[in-house]
Amino acid sequence: MARTVPGIRDAVAAIRSEGRSVAFVPTMGALHEGHLTLVRAAAATGAGVIVSVFVNPTQFGPNEDFTRYPRQEARDAEMAGSAGAEWIYAPGFATTITVDGPSEGLEGAIRPGHFAGVATVVAKLLLMVRPDRLLLGQKDAQQVAVVRRMMRDLHLDEIALEVVPTVREADGLAMSSRNAYLGPEDRVAALSLSRGLAAAEATAAAGERDARRIEAAAMAVMEGTHGVAPDYAALVDPDTFRPITTLDGPATLCVAAKVGPARLIDNTLIRPT
Ligand code: PAJ
Repeated sequence: MARTVPGIRDAVAAIRSEGRSVAFVPTMGALHEGHLTLVRAAAATGAGVIVSVFVNPTQFGPNEDFTRYPRQEARDAEMAGSAGAEWIYAPGFATTITVDGPSEGLEGAIRPGHFAGVATVVAKLLLMVRPDRLLLGQKDAQQVAVVRRMMRDLHLDEIALEVVPTVREADGLAMSSRNAYLGPEDRVAALSLSRGLAAAEATAAAGERDARRIEAAAMAVMEGTHGVAPDYAALVDPDTFRPITTLDGPATLCVAAKVGPARLIDNTLIRPT
């Protein structure tokens, strides 16, 4: 476990001295199968894997769940280790990078400052680790778009960004550290996000091209579920995260809702038929 910049650099140098490449998986800990899928994808090529565990305060708003966010460092270290990761690094810091464009709508509008916090910590970690590959989850699609843009703007483009598909529970719920907040009834209600996405997919598959109607299909499922307060269902361009009007190419349908004590997000890629 490395906790200092020289410590992480020594770990990276040790991997490189073995002639191996370096793959990096940033996390906020409370590791679950979604995170471990990223770690395994990172390790699959024989790369040395660096996993960071840092609950980054700058990406949480004042009324969000920073203090109650699940923390389980010893278990995380063990889980990451058994999945092939070699180092865990928890930094501390103070600087800001803001990314316009993809960070403006959806989560960025509801959580002011969130993506500046994400972009800053990811930039710092990338400059510390200097990996060959960065692995992010499709679960956080807007985060992917923001980080992709930040990497392009800051000339971090020699690092390959790999996006791993969303890992789900058997019933469709996207895995998330925040699922730990769900009581038994919330857990059932939470399925309305993935079911809403499925309803919207079916609407598009039936030939619907009007983005607002496709969104409405997802919204109807969430609104019709007791205990769910939807924030949005939005069909956007996968790179710019601007809303689209007509489905005439691949688009990302994003949903967000409060379910009991948790705020959950999910998304799916929709293509015109
Ligand atoms: P965290 O929520 O811990 O997620 C770490 C990584 O795991 C992210 O790339 C996220 O998209 C991915 N992930 C989470 N759940 C997933 C799932 N069900 N399937 C696939 N991938 C999943 O995202 C963050 O932390 C932070 O914002 C971070 C990038 C570490 C910056 O602080």
